[in-house]
Amino acid sequence: MGTNEDKFKRVISHAKEYGFIFQSSEIYDGLSAVYDYAQNGVELKNNIRQYWWKSMVQMHDDIVGIDSAILMHPKTWKASGHVDAFNDPLIDNKDSKKRYRADVLVEDYCAKIENKIDKEILKAKKRFGEKFDKEQFVITNPRVVGYKEKISTILSRLGKSLENEDLEDVKNLIIELDIVCPIAGSKNWTDVKQFNLMFGTKLGASSDTATDLYLRPETAQGIFVNFLNVQKSGRMKIPFGIAQTGKAFRNEIVARQFIFRMREFEQMEMQFFVKPGTQNDWYQKWKDTRMKWHISLGMGEDNYRFHDHEKLAHYADAATDIEFKFPFGFKELEGVHSRTDFDLKQHQEFSGKKLQYFDHELNESYTPCVVETSIGLDRMFLAIFSNSLCEETLENNTTRTVLKIPSFLSTYKVAILPLVKKDGLSELARNIYNELKLEFNVTYDEKDAVGRRYRRQDAIGTPYCITIDHQTKEDSTITIRDRDTMVQDRIPLKGVENYIKDKVSFNSALSKML
Ligand code: GAP
Repeated sequence: MGTNEDKFKRVISHAKEYGFIFQSSEIYDGLSAVYDYAQNGVELKNNIRQYWWKSMVQMHDDIVGIDSAILMHPKTWKASGHVDAFNDPLIDNKDSKKRYRADVLVEDYCAKIENKIDKEILKAKKRFGEKFDKEQFVITNPRVVGYKEKISTILSRLGKSLENEDLEDVKNLIIELDIVCPIAGSKNWTDVKQFNLMFGTKLGASSDTATDLYLRPETAQGIFVNFLNVQKSGRMKIPFGIAQTGKAFRNEIVARQFIFRMREFEQMEMQFFVKPGTQNDWYQKWKDTRMKWHISLGMGEDNYRFHDHEKLAHYADAATDIEFKFPFGFKELEGVHSRTDFDLKQHQEFSGKKLQYFDHELNESYTPCVVETSIGLDRMFLAIFSNSLCEETLENNTTRTVLKIPSFLSTYKVAILPLVKKDGLSELARNIYNELKLEFNVTYDEKDAVGRRYRRQDAIGTPYCITIDHQTKEDSTITIRDRDTMVQDRIPLKGVENYIKDKVSFNSALSKML
């Protein structure tokens, strides 16, 4: 499918052409970094959310879910540190007048060095063939070792400078690395400045009495402020978790890469409350559990990696990103953070309400520590969508575009296709559609030749197509076509529901995590 850039363009145009994602307010020329999910996209998005909810909430007897409001008391954001510290370091290029995130400029520079490492590995793989030992190669090849050292030195300096708020050194780093503006090609940079990412809004009708509010930049705080409500009403014992999914808003200045970085997006977060001192064990456990969840989707283990943070957020004592290989390289998909007791203590201080847990076994009260897992639903959508989109050359030299979404997440599970409209086949097919729609999300299509209809279903990722033909009338059998292999089997109509159910339920993926 050509270069990664071409592939990414194909992903974006396919998402629009086949009704997955549209630019928001497109008829008014769109709103940058805001997107709408279309008729096929909303189903896929719902299925991903449901798969996360099932595995996170319903499969853990020590985790419960909530759905807290987007608008919260303004003190929430003072307490959480977002008013003072939820900033991005920005830098402008004086020639192009374009604004960039200074840390992203440096990280992109490092990603280019990573690409050089990948090229060295590829070359060596070709040279050594079967005998190639990648692990050995990356720790012994002088060029690769040099590249890795360079990346590590740069990122550790960036991390330290950001942690110490030394923005002058961040600018110096950009200058020293000879990083140029991708538009102007020049190094004519301004100083680096901090920019707060929260969207403000107002509560109340008159301008004198209105209260300033923020649209939440993360769902987590709705969980922290409800910690005691849930613990008491649910009689929860530590360790336990609270999960939720919902919208979050960030005034991203460098908003690009389609739905990877949006201004309005959805998070799926879980805060796990633990006894202080045990947080590191739980952090390791949740790292493993979340990686297993990703692997359970069957999109290839090599597409994921951990990236431990050099620079820790103001609330964390350990943090890692689960990165995914998007068409534009490995980037953060999910964060796992050990947030200490920071948030609960802050809310306790700012609200004046005690937010402690009484441990009956120890006969003492304490403020629990929190390990959080936080994943962007839209990023997960992009990971699945981009990884699934393939262009295949068939035996007869034609090509087909197919979206090999894991079947249990696909928009439709099955398409019902009468071979022709006449001879009662439409009516028969409609009856089958009406029966199966009770169990699955099913689509019905009787327009055009059946080959074209198969292609349409391939392009939206429907894993099974059922064709009703004249033989169906005689012996009550149908043909069922598999999206990935294109193999068609003739099976009795009676068994078709179980045949599909087996293949499209969450169960087999979920059981990989037990
Ligand atoms: N409560 C912790 C928290 O919000 P984060 O690393 O800022 O941590 C968590 O965000 C996840 O939310 C990210 O890993 C990413 O998947 C998603 N996310 C963050 N900003 C986003 C944006 N602007 N657009 C889409 N997804 C975003």
